Amino acid sequence: LADGPLRGRRVVVTSGPTHEPIDPVRYIANRSSGAQGTAIASALRDLGAEVVFVTGPADAARPAGVEVIEVESAVEMRAAVLGALPADAAVFAAAVADWRVATASDSKIKKQAGRLPVLEFTENPDILAEVSQLPEGRPGLVVGFAAETDDVVAHATAKRLRKGCDWILANDVSPATGIMGGSENAVVLISDDGSEAWPRMGKRAVAERLAQRIAAALGAPAAE
Ligand code: C5P
Repeated sequence: LADGPLRGRRVVVTSGPTHEPIDPVRYIANRSSGAQGTAIASALRDLGAEVVFVTGPADAARPAGVEVIEVESAVEMRAAVLGALPADAAVFAAAVADWRVATASDSKIKKQAGRLPVLEFTENPDILAEVSQLPEGRPGLVVGFAAETDDVVAHATAKRLRKGCDWILANDVSPATGIMGGSENAVVLISDDGSEAWPRMGKRAVAERLAQRIAAALGAPAAE
């Protein structure tokens, strides 16, 4: 492992979208590229952390030098994250689907003339909220993301309190910013200390700055 301020620290990072099955050949997904989560895992690794990278099906290349756990659905992602604990910190960059199909079919749903399938949904587990509120074994630092289109700081501040995480990195994804799907990000770090707007920068720079902040928050390198 690399030497650095995060040597001896274990960090779990979620990334990418989730795929929620409809039947064995169909699923519901979202447009997350996994770029920001991948950059965060790499930046934490570069500071010496032992990284567990839990990723949904994303195109982004898997970072080298980290433990990669590939999952499909939110339910699988939750199990992988809980199984990866204990950890010193956890960063939830995945775009987890809010809902899954309540009873995914075990066999392919047949096309029938004149009949349309009706999908019923159920809520997915909120992994960030669950880990933030673990009565035992909660990581010392839990970081979530919030993509907002209006009143970014107010909404993200409320989200931080609702979920119980320590930090939220909020970004403005309203179409005018061109951030969604782009290579740049403009984020506001929300913590107990209030909100801190970062200048617009590349996703790698956001990741590096976040990794530095995590290292500072966790303090001196852990003993071997
Ligand atoms: O509630 P919302 O989806 O806006 O919250 C976003 C944050 O919560 C992200 O950090 C995301 O990774 C996390 N999340 C999660 N599990 C969910 C939904 C969101 O971990 N089911």
